[in-house]
Amino acid sequence: MSELRITGGNRLGGAVTVHGAKNSVLPLLAACVLCQGECVLHRCPALSDVASSVAILRHLGATVTVEGDVITVNAAHVTQSDIPEDLMRKMRSSIVFLAPLAARTGCADVSLPGGCELGPRPIDLHIAGLRRLGADIADGHGRLRCTVSPRFTGTDYTLPFPSVGATENLLLAAATADGTTVLTGAAREPEIFDLIAFLNAAGARITAKPDALVIEGVPALHGCEHTVIPDRIEAATYLAAVAVTGGTALISPVVPEHLAAVLPLFRECGCHLKAWGDSLLLTAPPRLNHLKFVRSLPYPGFPTDAAAPLLAAMTVADGVSVFAETIFENRYRYVDELARLGAAVKTEGRVAVVEGVPRLQAAAVECTDLRGGAALVVAALAANGTTCLTQCHHLDRGYAGLCEMLNALGAQADYAS
Ligand code: UD1
Repeated sequence: MSELRITGGNRLGGAVTVHGAKNSVLPLLAACVLCQGECVLHRCPALSDVASSVAILRHLGATVTVEGDVITVNAAHVTQSDIPEDLMRKMRSSIVFLAPLAARTGCADVSLPGGCELGPRPIDLHIAGLRRLGADIADGHGRLRCTVSPRFTGTDYTLPFPSVGATENLLLAAATADGTTVLTGAAREPEIFDLIAFLNAAGARITAKPDALVIEGVPALHGCEHTVIPDRIEAATYLAAVAVTGGTALISPVVPEHLAAVLPLFRECGCHLKAWGDSLLLTAPPRLNHLKFVRSLPYPGFPTDAAAPLLAAMTVADGVSVFAETIFENRYRYVDELARLGAAVKTEGRVAVVEGVPRLQAAAVECTDLRGGAALVVAALAANGTTCLTQCHHLDRGYAGLCEMLNALGAQADYAS
């Protein structure tokens, strides 16, 4: 297993090119299953989760080509209805294949995605919603069998919590359902709207009202061309990485509106930020100021995925910062690893109190999960000496070309096997 070594202390500077959003491209690839023609997706990031989705598509009988950041999927001849356990287990978001596969073939037979490093991640909301759209869902022996005959049926449904994954599965089910679905309580993340844009380009009829998503089912979808939105979490991670070193960087492309809950926090901790067009220029002070209170919430609130890198930046800020996590039960596993670098963080349930220290010291640390790994990268950039990060496969799930991008900004990072 390769190890990422980062020698801290360099002030980062330069330009960051943000990739397409991981959390968009995964549902978009699953959505291709619904389309009976060629779909061309631009700005696809080279991530292990994307490779896992491509492997699932190929298993199902789709033809997939990957050329640079363009992925072309032709699912005209999807033949399989099952996804084997080894493919399902590679990433939790494989569950988003459930509805499109059932819609397309009448049956989806998949293994349960199981828990993950952030605590239990149930799929009860996906199942309850799909049942309301007429699916017959049976589970047993770790597998889930979802059948529809012959199509999902449009209905009114209110999600009890705006789950991103459940909203995606329900949109994918309703797109080719018989009749109209009115979905209230749905997630409103930018990635949801990217999925809607793709589905509409493929012939779906989805309208976003202020309080509901209205999906008029159509008999079938055709191929289309679509560009994935920029990854707001990757952008936030690089903002934190540059800020913690007191650096300056131009970060693009971004949709500033997607970062509306993130950018004020960088200003609060003393950074100067200038946004124009799809670019952001960040200039950080030599030492960051503390953040009074950061609470993760569903969009448009502060994104849970950006909390870990920001918390890591606060470990060397001047003063005490408080973070509250409201989305996942167990998001602070990386905090023990930050402590190895000398960070002073106390957690109690979903709250973390970060007392900024003047300097971190390099150590050997382990990536506990994707965003926890990103937090360790940010901390390592601010530490004295060379930090060795292991379990870097977590980082490969969400950060394309991480080492090269850090070095292009003037960091000292390399992989050693
Ligand atoms: C997606 C993102 C993830 C992000 C999260 C919240 C992808 C691939 N992943 O994950 O990066 O952190 O949104 O913004 O897009 N829940 C249930 N029952 C369900 C579904 C969810 O109880 O059926 C709970 C989860 O356990 C969690 C919360 O709802 O506590 C949020 O989950 P959800 O919004 O579904 O996140 P994901 O779609 O898994």
